[in-house]
Amino acid sequence: MKKHKIAPSLLSADFLHLQQEVGMINESEADWLHLDVMDGVFVPNISFGFPVMEAVAAICKKPLDAHLMIVEPQKFIKEFANLGAYLMNVHYEACPHLHRTISAIRDAGMKTGVTLNPHTPVELLEDIIGDVDMVLLMSVNPGFGAQQFIEQTIAKTVRLKRMILSKGLDTLIEIDGGVNLDTGKRLLEAGADVLVAGNFVFKAPDPMQAIRDLKR
Ligand code: DX5
Ligand code: ZN
Repeated sequence: MKKHKIAPSLLSADFLHLQQEVGMINESEADWLHLDVMDGVFVPNISFGFPVMEAVAAICKKPLDAHLMIVEPQKFIKEFANLGAYLMNVHYEACPHLHRTISAIRDAGMKTGVTLNPHTPVELLEDIIGDVDMVLLMSVNPGFGAQQFIEQTIAKTVRLKRMILSKGLDTLIEIDGGVNLDTGKRLLEAGADVLVAGNFVFKAPDPMQAIRDLKR
């Protein structure tokens, strides 16, 4: 089986000790660092913005996987490119002109990702999937860490994988929310390539070991 990636979510880190937390990620087997950006409009919570992400980006040695839970994410493409983000994920539900936004992200030099809320069917991606590097499926309602995994995501992942293979594409599938060793294993079997994990990693007694366990 192709080796999957693990993207710990900074949202669950100890914000009083961000330097140590990012240092731990640098030393760990994590593949990417997942950045959850919330605006209090698209989702009912506010997380962190550019001043914090710039400080993190300055010391983070792993590629940054930005997840924009905001309205009008196209307004910030240049800022994320300047930050050095590797990948920019925008929500399908927040982009009336998704094709244009995806093209602008690619033109800015970043990998492109489209994210679906739990209720949004993968079939809506039929005409855009060939243009994105990754699809991010939310397995919780976005806005908070440490929520209960929505089981339907497994069947959704299977359907998305089938769509990708039927088109001869190599689009990555990333899953975000409620990932642990049990849900993670089943998601990988269903076709996931990248697992985001917040609580499972940062609230573990040994976060480096938690990442190692998810890699296995
Ligand atoms: C939810 C965020 C997730 C979240 C995952 O809005 O997009 O990335 O931090 O946290 P866990 O793994 O704790 O569900
Ligand atoms: Zn996220």
